[in-house]
Amino acid sequence: MNSQTQPERQAVTRDLDEFSVTDAVVARMANARSARTKRVLAALIRHLHEFAREVELTEAEWEYGIDFLTRAGHMSTPERQEVILLSDTLGFSTLVTQMNHRSHNGESEQTVLGPFHRAGNIRYEHGANISEGIDGPPCFVNVTVRAPDGAPIRDATVDVWHSDHEGYYDVAHEEWDGDMRMRGIFTPDATGAVRFRTIVPASYPVPQDGPVGELLRATARHPMRPAHVHFKIDAPGFDPLVTHLFVNGDPYLDSDAVFGVRNALIVDFARHAPGDAPDGSVCETEFFTLDYDFVLRHASPV
Ligand code: BEZ
Ligand code: FE
Repeated sequence: MNSQTQPERQAVTRDLDEFSVTDAVVARMANARSARTKRVLAALIRHLHEFAREVELTEAEWEYGIDFLTRAGHMSTPERQEVILLSDTLGFSTLVTQMNHRSHNGESEQTVLGPFHRAGNIRYEHGANISEGIDGPPCFVNVTVRAPDGAPIRDATVDVWHSDHEGYYDVAHEEWDGDMRMRGIFTPDATGAVRFRTIVPASYPVPQDGPVGELLRATARHPMRPAHVHFKIDAPGFDPLVTHLFVNGDPYLDSDAVFGVRNALIVDFARHAPGDAPDGSVCETEFFTLDYDFVLRHASPV
């Protein structure tokens, strides 16, 4: 190869030190295919390098970090996403969610999706019991779905899922053989209301059998999430709403392992003595009611 065919030599690409290496890497991306790619990766590199310089990262720590991420990746499947769990427990998911849903002109607040949403949920009629045969205090849910002007959104799809009264989702019950329980899809009625019967969920630990569990133990953090019911509401012309309703009084509301609690989403699950239930039946045990009005945000024009 003669000197004319050699790539142009840039002084900054040789003899790099712990400081000059950062600009050298960023400069190498000058011809990135999009301005956004260039911006995101340049910022990532600058912050990553600055992090290593700030803590004076040792080679052993670098190796541990590589091994940690490798194990998190190997452990991840569509059903068990350890990398998202890592993002959740580092507060990164909440940061991204809140940054992307800033304005609250009366619209319902968003929080993390979590790993237990299942595609292909069963569609139910109003008043259905989505926890048939499962032990726990009965809970009669009555939520409405509305536009910011108060108009009911009849063509919404309301996807609901939650844990049992011991803190386990259906997927943790191997004896149920993959059955969908304590989850369902509803369409609001003419008034925007969705009504169903279920049981009161319990607080539960996030999975701890992988690298994220290791991180929680190393930092003396508990793995608990306060009890909640998940909702994912989609409607044409509106931004999807991904959120939970948290059980007021739960002991973990101020130390959620994934930093997802919002005041506006903490709800009284009202306790009632045995007797007439909202669905017209008679409850022989005490029961609870959950009422909430969701307000969707109009989709931004593209
Ligand atoms: C959940 O609420 O289902 C959840 C969210 C984030 C991490 C683990 C679980
Ligand atoms: Fe959950």
